[in-house]
Amino acid sequence: MADLVQLWNAPDEPLDCLYLVTHEGGGPLDGIVLPGADRKAIGHTTAELGVRGLEGEVLVTASPSRNFRRIACFGIGKAEEFTVHSLRKLLRRVLEQAGHNREYQIAVALPVAARDVAPDQARAVALGELALADYRFDRFRSRPDEATKVDAVHVVPLVGEDETGLGALVERARRLDALVRLARDLGNRPGNDLTPEAFATEVSAMFAGSAVRVTVMGAKELEKEGLRGILAVGRGSVQEPRMVRLEYRAKKPRAALVLVGKGVTFDAGGISLKPAAEMAEMKHDMAGAAAVVAAMRAVAEKLPPLKVVGLLPLVENLPSGSALKPGDIVTMVNGTTVEVDNTDAEGRLLLADAMAYAARFHPEIVVDLATLTGACKVALGSELAGMFANNDLLAQQLERLGHSTGDRVWRLPLLPEYRHLLRSEWADIKNSAGRWGSLPASAAFLARFVPEKARWAHLDIAGVAYVSRSHNGLPPGATGFGVRLLMALLDELAEKP
Ligand code: BES
Ligand code: MN
Ligand code: ZN
Repeated sequence: MADLVQLWNAPDEPLDCLYLVTHEGGGPLDGIVLPGADRKAIGHTTAELGVRGLEGEVLVTASPSRNFRRIACFGIGKAEEFTVHSLRKLLRRVLEQAGHNREYQIAVALPVAARDVAPDQARAVALGELALADYRFDRFRSRPDEATKVDAVHVVPLVGEDETGLGALVERARRLDALVRLARDLGNRPGNDLTPEAFATEVSAMFAGSAVRVTVMGAKELEKEGLRGILAVGRGSVQEPRMVRLEYRAKKPRAALVLVGKGVTFDAGGISLKPAAEMAEMKHDMAGAAAVVAAMRAVAEKLPPLKVVGLLPLVENLPSGSALKPGDIVTMVNGTTVEVDNTDAEGRLLLADAMAYAARFHPEIVVDLATLTGACKVALGSELAGMFANNDLLAQQLERLGHSTGDRVWRLPLLPEYRHLLRSEWADIKNSAGRWGSLPASAAFLARFVPEKARWAHLDIAGVAYVSRSHNGLPPGATGFGVRLLMALLDELAEKP
């Protein structure tokens, strides 16, 4: 599985299909490297097929070359208009079709660059998409579906592309791919399987013997540290909450960074119970924590010249006789008192505690990822995450990296004007605003807990962490959103903080 993506060099056995990505006004074989005989024969066939490269054009035929059984041409329209986002969607469509057609060994020739990122970056994105071709979550299937799985994707080299350069990109794509898979696997696991305790145990095992130190805090330690926001949310469940701390420090760190991931292993809403419809999807409410785990794995592998701390508050949010109630007042770790207006606004209670706790690591940068609000999903759908930031440079950096990695983010207003929505009659603040403005109010709530002087970005990934059914060619379930973005951020901070 690790070698799903390979460089094509005419293997002995023919491949099931050659996918040619074609564009308007270009020859279908322009820019790709194929042996002379294949070139000639395939050139004839595509001419006969009348390939025009129009957007959405899909033409399939038997292959005249012995190296392939079939040829499929996917048109993209004008090359000048082709973006990195269209590129990802296109490749996912190609892979979906290959799966449907039971093609196990395919080749992909992609001779078009994206207009909005550097050629190398576009190539990296493409390889990253191809590497995920066979992702399935079949841990709980007694008979995994092998029939629609692609076994190998052979990348056809382009003119001017040297093998070592491409090989290095393939290697990188494979590593990234393993981390996205890790985040998806965690996200897809149901609540009865991935409890806070199981999550913490799994993470401990994962980092054992690595350069990342793991500390798991149970109820006792949470009590001792005064992390009562986390405890309060966890009180309704027999599953005890945890907080996992992942610490890494290079000899001479160039920057100090804290990553916080919301880890609600199941969110029923608590006493403010959610409606039954779609409640099962709330097993994904720990996707932020999963992305942080994956990012810390990257840190353990690459040992960047940084200090990086990952914080994972892990709880299950259920109603019960011992659960947190509307009207309850909780004193958070930094002393702020919060009136719990709605027990379903639990994410901010966890994040607030974790972020205030983060102050002890003196971070210059704090990034949190959380499936925080349905309102964000209403606003932006499943295309991009909502971002709130207290620093323009960090916001711009995340926008740029989001664009190039595909984990796109859209900045929303972090303004003091929204604070009044959280005014409480009885405590310093309440945890939920009314309907109007509830999305910026969620960020205004978190802002009160950000360590002083830290540049901070909050990513609301409620709409992008999972898809209910196949969307943009993504399989249903967890997407692994945030893994690529965090990796790109870490890479950049390691180079030029
Ligand atoms: N985990 C949910 C948010 C969510 C909703 C994520 C849909 C993914 C899809 C969160 O804990 C929640 O319930 N938020 C409430 C907040 C409200 C009570 C202020 C919401 O969005 O309704
Ligand atoms: Mn909730
Ligand atoms: Zn939640």
